[in-house]
Amino acid sequence: MTVSANKPIILLIGMGGTIAGLQLKGDEQGYLAGQVSIETLSAQIKSKLLIKNKQLANIDSCDMTEPLLTKLGQEVIEALQNSNIAGVLITHGTDTMEETALFLELICGHLASAQGKKVVIAGAMLPADHPKADGPENLQRAVTLIEDKTASGIFGVMGGKVFTAKSMAKRHTSRLDAFCITDPSLDSKSLGVGSHHVSEDLPIPPVDQWPRVEIITNHIGAKGDQIEAYQKLGVVGIVLAGTGGGTVHQDLATGLETFMNTGGALVRSSRVGYGSVPPKLANGRLKNALGAGDLNPAKARIALQLALFASQQAKAKTLSWQDIFARIRDLPESR
Ligand code: SIN
Repeated sequence: MTVSANKPIILLIGMGGTIAGLQLKGDEQGYLAGQVSIETLSAQIKSKLLIKNKQLANIDSCDMTEPLLTKLGQEVIEALQNSNIAGVLITHGTDTMEETALFLELICGHLASAQGKKVVIAGAMLPADHPKADGPENLQRAVTLIEDKTASGIFGVMGGKVFTAKSMAKRHTSRLDAFCITDPSLDSKSLGVGSHHVSEDLPIPPVDQWPRVEIITNHIGAKGDQIEAYQKLGVVGIVLAGTGGGTVHQDLATGLETFMNTGGALVRSSRVGYGSVPPKLANGRLKNALGAGDLNPAKARIALQLALFASQQAKAKTLSWQDIFARIRDLPESR
């Protein structure tokens, strides 16, 4: 890319995923994610603005790490603060896209709105060399969204549709419209409406300071005897992917109660996929756990990590992780 002095820039950050994937040749089936460079993807885009490419990673997003989130967050914040940059587009694998999207919303959603800019995360369900590859259309949709100055904030584009960062979730393993939202899809006219529940973005944990949080799923015969081992490994928070409305087997509940009594942070979510968990369970189990609202287990995990880290910072002394998590949970879909 040649950067001319006055033209606004879109920073295009490549993280990998199927959008950068290539099909296996010969007798082998399937494809490998994260094979094509961001320069190659960038060449497919038509934009009034200049595109500046940055390859931050080129991985299958099942291998995403917290240190990579830290680096991505820092890169995006720097771009939002740069007056030459009009917006940021991130290409990312779809498998963990909703976690990265929520992370970005929480660490720079407010900044993006304050600067009147968009950060858009986009991916694809078919690899780059597939005859019906959906990546180019999603990229083009994302660029058009960034060029349109009527709204600001953090968004996702999949299946040609625009999602708010908080609402997006992968709900099908293979369909092109694998992402769905709890509310009807938003068009650019309705983006950016809603009130601000938090006036500040949360701090990004440094690469080596992410609190370790694990997800434990409730299921028939669920046990809680693994939790002590988790604590010995340094786990300070657990998200329960409960059944139904966040319910939990009595044996797992016993282990989780002990975890909370020894200082562990527990959030109750549901493995169902849609809907909110009620704040309390009628049978009284885990009454001191915090309900995740409509955050799914993977998103609740990111939210809990950020809430735990923020509550340890001097600035947030008066706010507990529960206060911060509740603010995240209650954020409107669009702010
Ligand atoms: C990945 O998440 O990196 C692979 C799957 C995809 O992008 O659809």
